[in-house]
Amino acid sequence: MIKTAEIREAADILRSGGLVALPTETVYGLGADAANEAAIRRIFKAKGRPFDHPLIVHIGKISDLSQWVLEVPENAERLAKAFWPGPLTLILKKQPHVLNIVTGGQDTVGIRMPNHPLALALLQTFGGGVVAPSANQFTHVSPTTAAAVREELGDKVDFILDGGACAVGLESTIIDLTHEVPVILRPGMITQAMLEDVLGMSVRNTRQDASDVRAPGMHHLHYAPMTKTVLMANADLANYLKAVKKPAVVVSHNDVKVPAEVQFVKMPNSAKAYAHDLYHTLRELDRQSFQEIIIESVPDTAEWIAIKDRLMKASGSSNRSP
Ligand code: TXA
Ligand code: MG
Repeated sequence: MIKTAEIREAADILRSGGLVALPTETVYGLGADAANEAAIRRIFKAKGRPFDHPLIVHIGKISDLSQWVLEVPENAERLAKAFWPGPLTLILKKQPHVLNIVTGGQDTVGIRMPNHPLALALLQTFGGGVVAPSANQFTHVSPTTAAAVREELGDKVDFILDGGACAVGLESTIIDLTHEVPVILRPGMITQAMLEDVLGMSVRNTRQDASDVRAPGMHHLHYAPMTKTVLMANADLANYLKAVKKPAVVVSHNDVKVPAEVQFVKMPNSAKAYAHDLYHTLRELDRQSFQEIIIESVPDTAEWIAIKDRLMKASGSSNRSP
């Protein structure tokens, strides 16, 4: 169901240098014309985001990719064909015209084609590229509903396109294709194995040794609720709880013996459903003034890697240096 009048209005706002929050399958983005430096400055201001954090350019057709990158290597072509529209961002060498404010002054640019009918309709109507970071204040949890965008940005955004709850719920997988061996910079629901399958080669997953300061999530508190959030093994929960006055407990796999008065959230068992619910759950708990949000750690298997990554960041337990 495409809301034609709204899409037209949103495209006009982009053309005149305004900010439009748009739904994608991952999280809501705060969009601006990728060729309008003044508009993009407003994004950084609205989010309180440092200027050296590069933005992803969103496109409405696979064939638009070549307008933004110097060349489209075979790897990029294969991945785009297999996963676009979808939750995958490709990092490639940029065209000279791509603004420094988009790339943080780097010679690479991140591009993705989102899989949401309203986002695609907007991109195709607008015609150009749209830079869109997640539509939250810097370091906060990404919004997965239009209401969450409103809560994060209020009137700093000119228009919010409401496309319902985001289907995936976690930000896109980011893969850097500018090296001989592709490197995953941010894990997402498109996993290393899925990428290797399509590429027919191994892919590096260097979240730990990423030395590039512009690598995603460089802040140790990123994607974080305001409430103190801790991540711990099921076995330690019961004991830890004794020392917390007003805890909220988020479990997924095991039942925990907790006092009846403790707020208890049971998350889904499947990684896909867990990812879908995670940010919404954190946001809901965050507004209830708990002393701590205590989250049961999730399995160490491949399909949970992206979720674990976000949980570590939400709890500030990521050991990557700032
Ligand atoms: O799912 C998503 O990717 C969402 C939706 C709205 O599309 N967008 C998103 O954008 O998560 P943002 O700005 O919150 O995160 C983008 C990440 C940043 O951490 C940034 O460092 C990284 O992408 N990035 C962008 N361009 C890059 C580049 N040229 N090299 C390395 N990292 C880059
Ligand atoms: Mg973000």
